[in-house]
Amino acid sequence: MPRCAPLWWSANSTPDPSRSLRAPAFVVVERARAQRERDETGYEAVVPRGRATGYAEGMETLRQIVVFVHLIGFATLFGAWAVEAFGGQRRFTRLMQIGLAIAGVAGLILAAPWGLAEGADMNYAKIGTKLVVLLIIGALLGIGSARQRRGDAVAPALFWGVGVLTLLNAGIALLWG
Ligand code: HEM
Repeated sequence: MPRCAPLWWSANSTPDPSRSLRAPAFVVVERARAQRERDETGYEAVVPRGRATGYAEGMETLRQIVVFVHLIGFATLFGAWAVEAFGGQRRFTRLMQIGLAIAGVAGLILAAPWGLAEGADMNYAKIGTKLVVLLIIGALLGIGSARQRRGDAVAPALFWGVGVLTLLNAGIALLWG
């Protein structure tokens, strides 16, 4: 055995080449903990129901980070709209489009079932509804911005529609099941 044997070599006499040495730190720690438990008890560790492994915990954290980015997109879109609505010129701005794009991309990433806590389900009816609302917001922003470029004012229905539908999507996210 080499002097600086990898963690899993010291516990296993035959190295398993399928175990990558480049595994993330939390996976290595989790493997070492499981191996210690096997050595001490002679049994495969029984992971209690509901307790995530190190890898699953890492994915859950990553999902939370994407939710955070999603919320930044929402805040950017709604904040930019609120500035224009209350004291601004009631025009569509580039920041609104950027916020919508951030919320949309992060939302689509969240629409896939990964990094969920054990037993958590996806509500695809809710996600589909949010996607439709997002597309309508995008259409309103697109039509209004095109009129603005031609020098026309944004129609009040378009302008208020963007704010109301943005809040509607946040409400759906928080209040629907
Ligand atoms: C203007 C558009 C949008 C707004 C304002 C918005 C707002 C929000 C808010 C406030 C949350 C946080 C809810 C919580 O804390 O659980 C959320 C979560 C979420 N949103 Fe959106 N959203 C938008 C678009 C989308 C789109 C287009 C999708 C997918 C197609 C989407 C998918 C999701 C998912 C899956 C979550 C739950 C995250 C999780 O708990 O794992 N959202 N959204």
